[in-house]
Amino acid sequence: MTLDDSMSLVDIHSHLVPGVDDGARHVPGVLNAIERMTHAGIRRVVTTPHIDASLVLTPERLEARLDGVTQAWEQARSAIREEFPEVEYLRGHEVLIDIPEPDLSDSRLRLTGTSFVLIEWPRLQVPPGTPRVVRHICDQGYRPIIAHPERYAGMMHKTELPHQWKEAGARLQVNYGSLAGRYGSEAQAVAWRILGLGLADYLASDFHGQSRLKIYKKETWAELEERGGQEALDLLFRVNPARVLEDVEPLPVPAVSAPSPLLQRLRGMIVRRERSMERQG
Ligand SMILES: [Fe+2]
Repeated sequence: MTLDDSMSLVDIHSHLVPGVDDGARHVPGVLNAIERMTHAGIRRVVTTPHIDASLVLTPERLEARLDGVTQAWEQARSAIREEFPEVEYLRGHEVLIDIPEPDLSDSRLRLTGTSFVLIEWPRLQVPPGTPRVVRHICDQGYRPIIAHPERYAGMMHKTELPHQWKEAGARLQVNYGSLAGRYGSEAQAVAWRILGLGLADYLASDFHGQSRLKIYKKETWAELEERGGQEALDLLFRVNPARVLEDVEPLPVPAVSAPSPLLQRLRGMIVRRERSMERQG
């Protein structure tokens, strides 16, 4: 599988509802992002604005928030239909778990209304008792996907946590950019470790619509191909994300061996230098 624009990939994590969170600010920004996603081979985008789980406790605030997101999403959707009719622009949320027993019964909180829900822990820290929270969500009949497990503070040393999350019933979504070193060397090493243990279920962009960011770096793609072969890539990028839309469990992904720490560090340095140039530009 080569990285080109004919792959029909599905991306289940991005911030492309205009003006509602720290992602794309306006419709032209969303269109620019979608154009670049099509060049990366993505044809179905489940965009996932941030929302706090605690908002459910105040129904009128929740409704106001969801109404705003719906309006902005519909605006972007009609512009995308005009300009990129080949792209399906779908929605969910990235639910920040700021209460221990979140109520996820409102289908708008979940990925395209399926039983899957993309969750994250607050402030990129892992609070105590997260496996219990995962179990609580599963007990309600939903399927939690933990966003970017590699990005939380101290994950380098919390080697048991990814196993505990999976055992509790979570699926894991690694950010593609983490493998390239976009979020620092620790997130990079942890991302490769999670793939190396065969614990990752999905790769996604977590794209915030930055105008210069390369969504999928070809070097990382080649690296993945070399190490995990076609099968892991196909499962992580296409098959398993598509299965979310069908509301069925991901298929097991074979382990992908990590590049040497030295090679990772070198690649990461290049990516972070590019990133600081993006910011300056
Ligand atoms: Fe995100």
